[in-house]
Amino acid sequence: MTFARIAGTGGYLPERVLTNKDLEKMVETTDEWIQERSGIKRRHIAADNETTSDMAVAAGRKAIEAAGIETGAIDLIIVATTTPDKVFPSTACIVQRRLDIAKTPAFDVHAACSGFLYALDIANRFIVTGGATNALVIGSETYSRILDWTDRSTCVLFGDGAGAVVLSTSDEAGIISTHIHSEGKHEELLHVPAGISSGYADVQREAAFIQMKGNEVFKKAVNTLGSIARETLEGNNLSQKDLTWLVPHQANLRIIKAAAKKLGMPMERVIVTVDEHANTSSASVPLALDVAVRDGRIKRGDMLLFEAFGAGFTWGSALVRY
Ligand code: COA
Repeated sequence: MTFARIAGTGGYLPERVLTNKDLEKMVETTDEWIQERSGIKRRHIAADNETTSDMAVAAGRKAIEAAGIETGAIDLIIVATTTPDKVFPSTACIVQRRLDIAKTPAFDVHAACSGFLYALDIANRFIVTGGATNALVIGSETYSRILDWTDRSTCVLFGDGAGAVVLSTSDEAGIISTHIHSEGKHEELLHVPAGISSGYADVQREAAFIQMKGNEVFKKAVNTLGSIARETLEGNNLSQKDLTWLVPHQANLRIIKAAAKKLGMPMERVIVTVDEHANTSSASVPLALDVAVRDGRIKRGDMLLFEAFGAGFTWGSALVRY
């Protein structure tokens, strides 16, 4: 039996940092409000000419280097993003060209903040069925481009960045199980109304930006993350005590704490980057993973639970022996 394991991780954050104090000069808000309601202190913002593929390539290169393989050994590329460079081709194809990787399957996955968990689920299926040996799985987002910088209820919450992993074949289970779900009926609680087939050429200004009913999203996120964690542990006959680290989607510190509490997981065993990165959507879980791998908290052999929740609604989890 062939399994998949995480052979290497990588991350990239744009150079420009936007603090809560900077935001105080842009909208009617305060550093105290943002920290108290979300736990966010600062976020990284892409340079004017920096795109989702630029960040994806940077994170991808680091993951390949960490995996100790040649770029040419990659035989599948999946990019999770809702903020692609172009309508087409896919960001994954642009990444493939820029990494000079020949003729591998390359495609994007669109599942908002759960995108990386969806991409990981798909890449794992490719590997265990013999369809790939080294998959480059990236979450990369430029949410600064879909934020209304005059809307204080959304613009303080998001940031830009990319995270990546190389999934490689293994005799032992690295990816133990993956779980993905969606419930499309909540479309209008969190969305960017503009789209290709719905008035793209003459889009109204506000339709081009994130619109969110924050309170309702908050409640649904906490309950759903609680249930996906339960589903994952029960499905593997494990309990919270078997986990070394929880690596949650980084949307809001209050959501992370409430979900950890439901799981009975002490915050000392939860990876938190939302204070420094804000919500980077599909990049948030692989970025948090990369930070904790590189600072030595996450070690080989650790049992990890990834979980994410986002627009759609979509949600997902993965139980991983790192
Ligand atoms: N600065 C100051 N005040 C702000 C503000 C800001 N940046 N944004 C909103 N407010 C105000 C609101 O206008 C409201 O004022 P009112 O009571 O006079 O109407 C007040 O703060 C409280 O708003 P409310 O929405 O009830 O706050 P909250 O405690 O729910 O926190 C969020 C707001 C958005 C931080 C929170 O709901 C949240 O994080 N939701 C989930 C968002 C998310 O993670 N989405 C992505 C999921 S992947």
